Amino acid sequence: MDIRPILLVCSFVLMPAFGDIRSNLGGVISNFFDAASIFPEIHPLYPQPQYNEKNSTHDFIIVGSGPTGSVIVNRLTENPEWDVLLLESGEEPSTITDVPFLSGQLEFSKYNWAYKAEPQDGFCRGCYEGRMEWPHGNALGGSSIINYMIFVRGNKLDYDRWAAKGNPGWSYDDVLPYFLKSEDAHIARSDKNYHQQGGYLTITDVPYRSKAADAYVKAAQEAGHAYVDYNGAQQLGVSYVQGTLRRGLRCSSEKAFLRPIRKRRNVKILTGSRVVRILIDPRTKRAYGVQYFRNGDTHFAFANKEVVLSAGSLNSPQLLMLSGIGPKGHLESHGIPVIQNLSVGKTMYDHPSYPGVIFKLNASIALDLVGSLLNPATYLEFKQGRGLFTSIGGVEAMTYIRTNTSSDPDPSYPDMELFMGGGTMSTDLGLVFRRIFNIPLRIYDTIWKPLEGKNVYTVFPMLVHPKSRGYLELKSNNPFDAPKFFANFLSDPDNDDVKTFIAAIREIQRINDSPAMQKYGSTLVDTPLPGCEKEIFNSDDYWECCLRTIIGSLYHQVATCKMGPKSDPDAVVDPRLRVYGIEGLRVADTSIIPHPVTAHTVAAAYMIGEKAADIIKEDWKRV
Ligand SMILES: Cc1cc2nc3c(=O)[nH]c(=O)nc-3n(C[C@H](O)[C@H](O)[C@H](O)COP(=O)(O)OP(=O)(O)OC[C@H]3O[C@@H](n4cnc5c(N)ncnc54)[C@H](O)[C@@H]3O)c2cc1C
Ligand SMILES: *[C@@H]1O[C@H](CO)[C@@H](O)[C@H](O)[C@H]1NC(C)=O
Ligand SMILES: *[C@@H]1O[C@H](CO)[C@@H](O)[C@H](O)[C@H]1NC(C)=O
Ligand SMILES: *[C@@H]1O[C@H](CO)[C@@H](O)[C@H](O)[C@H]1NC(C)=O
Ligand SMILES: *[C@@H]1O[C@H](CO)[C@@H](O)[C@H](O)[C@H]1NC(C)=O
Repeated sequence: MDIRPILLVCSFVLMPAFGDIRSNLGGVISNFFDAASIFPEIHPLYPQPQYNEKNSTHDFIIVGSGPTGSVIVNRLTENPEWDVLLLESGEEPSTITDVPFLSGQLEFSKYNWAYKAEPQDGFCRGCYEGRMEWPHGNALGGSSIINYMIFVRGNKLDYDRWAAKGNPGWSYDDVLPYFLKSEDAHIARSDKNYHQQGGYLTITDVPYRSKAADAYVKAAQEAGHAYVDYNGAQQLGVSYVQGTLRRGLRCSSEKAFLRPIRKRRNVKILTGSRVVRILIDPRTKRAYGVQYFRNGDTHFAFANKEVVLSAGSLNSPQLLMLSGIGPKGHLESHGIPVIQNLSVGKTMYDHPSYPGVIFKLNASIALDLVGSLLNPATYLEFKQGRGLFTSIGGVEAMTYIRTNTSSDPDPSYPDMELFMGGGTMSTDLGLVFRRIFNIPLRIYDTIWKPLEGKNVYTVFPMLVHPKSRGYLELKSNNPFDAPKFFANFLSDPDNDDVKTFIAAIREIQRINDSPAMQKYGSTLVDTPLPGCEKEIFNSDDYWECCLRTIIGSLYHQVATCKMGPKSDPDAVVDPRLRVYGIEGLRVADTSIIPHPVTAHTVAAAYMIGEKAADIIKEDWKRV
């Protein structure tokens, strides 16, 4: 019996317990062991280019290698005449980032920018320091290196409404071909004409399923939710989750789109390269390159054709502002010379999610982490691409619902996603997920500690179309300072966001009352949340108190460099993703999404990459 994989995984599972080591532990461990002999498909070690040119010139410079940037680099270098430089601040992923079950742990690794939202009165009142975690991927592959791999494209109406708001070319019929172009889908419940095989990005069912997930999917159907392919003809309904997995391992944008093209001679990929400024000629307002830090040194790269910012929804707006593009008064207050006055960062939507709707079961059908870790079969299964380690951080099933609080004219438009996990924060003994939600021991010990070792499942309601709108600002003109993030969760004046959440919590309970769940005596955990004891348990006021006490982001920040027509005062880029008023500069990543999609955002990020690459190719054909 080879015990190395056991040691490898156990040490990583335990890593967050050792405090704030946002270190290279994962990398050290995986280099120490001969990873190739343990895992079926591993991240090869690439020779890092000895690249110390102070100044270099290229056709295109892409900043950021997340899903969008990776696709753009891949597609632009299809043209052998074009020379492309990719600058990424983070490092190469490692073996450990391949293990889907460890998604949560990666928040405590060097692959996270480790941002936090500013403390605000209306939410996270019970969180550590009143602050919400705001992770973001800092790696070759961006957030697709640390995300949970949930793959959802969104609703047809999301895109039709982008187009209707003055963004031609972005309707569902326009973007569906781009979703399909990326895709290599292998899923059991799959609607015809909505999926494709042969693309770079592998989408599969999650190999691991707890019995609790099977029961839940059945219960939701008993409660009247259709069993659907949520990426197909109809989104409303229940389904097992589809994931960006390949043979039971993470399929990141690095693996899908960059790895196959690293040998192309017209691409240069530089990790550990942090862009600090876009170079813009203030007279002509033309972007002609970037300034970046690498190995402690300043470098310049110049672009003959374009600079494309794909630094993600939190860093793209930061880089624009540092370069003189943003709200005039705000830039001036930090002493940044203004080149173009635009509403950068003024709009920021996100998807809040509540982690405290937990049910207790009377049979061993939920996810048993401790038991599985102690069972050698778990490791053998993983070598074959099966078993617990292929679970995407415990997320198992999705239900898209329309609550009775929805005022949307279209009856097919969901207002809530319910995602089901075959465990809860007690499943990992409070080591990982408790910290992800910044829940102090005072609360954990009351609610979750008594559930340790028990059979439990959770359904997280996620608000897909929040009315509350946040924003971000620079902290200073120092590019190494993190921006300030004001999430403004649950702040809309009509309190509609809270009402929609409560309606969803009622629906979660109704599904749980169905026979398939009741077979296991499933009951809502009814210990009052500390801070909300004075409300009547399970009343609307009780749930509002809970929502304002603990809540999490699903890290789907959008609209910080919003796409829109010229008439839209909040727009930063036009529908061809060009920054208003500036030549030779586009933004392409989730920051351009004008209004939140009915989905987690990675699928949209890949689609935006495919579409942006085609736009760029078209525009340069015309010249
Ligand atoms: C913890 C977590 C879990 C998530 N789970 C899911 C999920 O399950 N399903 C889903 O659909 N979505 C999920 N998401 C969201 C999804 O991963 C993102 O929406 C998606 O990765 C966005 O892609 P992007 O290309 O816009 O940017 P990003 O993925 O953010 O990539 C931006 C890249 O730019 C780099 N960069 C930033 N600044 C600079 C700079 N100054 N210089 C050089 N490089 C820079 C960053 O390091 C990063 O690599 C999750 C996100 C997080 C953080
Ligand atoms: C590199 O470019 C910078 C910025 O334009 C310039 O100041 C510097 O002189 C250049 N260095 C060399 C060696 O060409
Ligand atoms: C909405 O539905 C929930 C149950 O799902 C119910 O408790 C509530 O009364 C309904 N509200 C309205 C306004 O119909
Ligand atoms: C679980 O609860 C259900 C419903 O009350 C009951 O029928 C079943 O026998 C219970 N199972 C066990 C193992 O207690
Ligand atoms: C800057 O742009 C915003 C949004 O378009 C506008 O409201 C504001 O008046 C502009 N400010 C200046 C000083 O032009």
